[in-house]
Amino acid sequence: MIKNQARARAHTNIALIKYWGKRDAHFILPFNSSISLTLEPFYTDTEVCFDHELLEDEFYLDGTRQKPEATVKVHHFLNLVREHASISSPAKIISNNHVPNSAGLASSASAFAALAAAASRAAGLHLNPTELSRLARRGSGSATRSIFGGFVKWEKGSSETTSEAISLQENVDWDIQMIAILINPAKKRISSRNGMAATVATSPYFPAWVKTAEQAIPEMTAAILKKNIKLVGQLAQTNALQMHATTLAAVPGFTYFEPQTLQTIALIEQLQSEGISCYYTMDAGPNVKVICTAAETPFILRRLETVFRPEQLLIAKPGPGVMYYDKGWKGSDEF
Ligand code: PMV
Repeated sequence: MIKNQARARAHTNIALIKYWGKRDAHFILPFNSSISLTLEPFYTDTEVCFDHELLEDEFYLDGTRQKPEATVKVHHFLNLVREHASISSPAKIISNNHVPNSAGLASSASAFAALAAAASRAAGLHLNPTELSRLARRGSGSATRSIFGGFVKWEKGSSETTSEAISLQENVDWDIQMIAILINPAKKRISSRNGMAATVATSPYFPAWVKTAEQAIPEMTAAILKKNIKLVGQLAQTNALQMHATTLAAVPGFTYFEPQTLQTIALIEQLQSEGISCYYTMDAGPNVKVICTAAETPFILRRLETVFRPEQLLIAKPGPGVMYYDKGWKGSDEF
């Protein structure tokens, strides 16, 4: 490995108990803790090389050099790393997303988790996963959780130094996975950043959201440890609807749902009434993620295929935490 250079991989995650609202926008401190599942097929690979001969940060995404306006977030994030490591060199950042474009699969989570891992290593900082999760949090809230594999909790914490991820169950040895349904791949109209800020500022339902989400955290933790898909699914579904209720009650109200989102919810509820263990969750976009078992997935897919094309249905098993490249991909503990 060349000095000042490192390459890392991080997977996306889908929240089962959502993060929706910042109590501190600068440090990205959330109002409530959240819980997610890291997914195996969707990830970002990022290579960072600090080089004093560069004139400025150069950011290449999927093979294309990004314009300055698309480099601002990355540049600000690297400034945090440079400050921490007491270095000043610009960096070349080469990032490749293995996440369907704007599919509502939180590519910002894998993007900032991979950037945090690669940039901190390249800068000579040897952060443990907890410290890394705090750094990733400064790029995007959901990136906090993508440092770990499997089921992960982001502790809201009491300060900048205690708002971090912890692993709830790294190796998921029971039958749970997701089907991501790509309803509309277009970029969302309202970013999660703006959507949550508007909700915090204007939705009278927001305090109730924070209270119910916090109450759901110990329940979801227990359901995961019991490996109880029914409880996990029901809690996730309820929490997703509660999050989306806050946006409808904002002033002006808004929703990420599209007609096919509601159509899918109805279809999943129909399958539930037939005794199938499948549950839905939605983030800041119209796409639906179905929580289900691998055993029942073929049956669920056949029903979904009455509405969607096969390429709109992506199966995702639980995935690993951050990895580094050194003559092959290695977990952070083996590096
Ligand atoms: O990390 P952000 O700013 O993209 O926000 C993510 C918000 C949700 O995806 C809607 C919920 C979550 O906890 O991931």
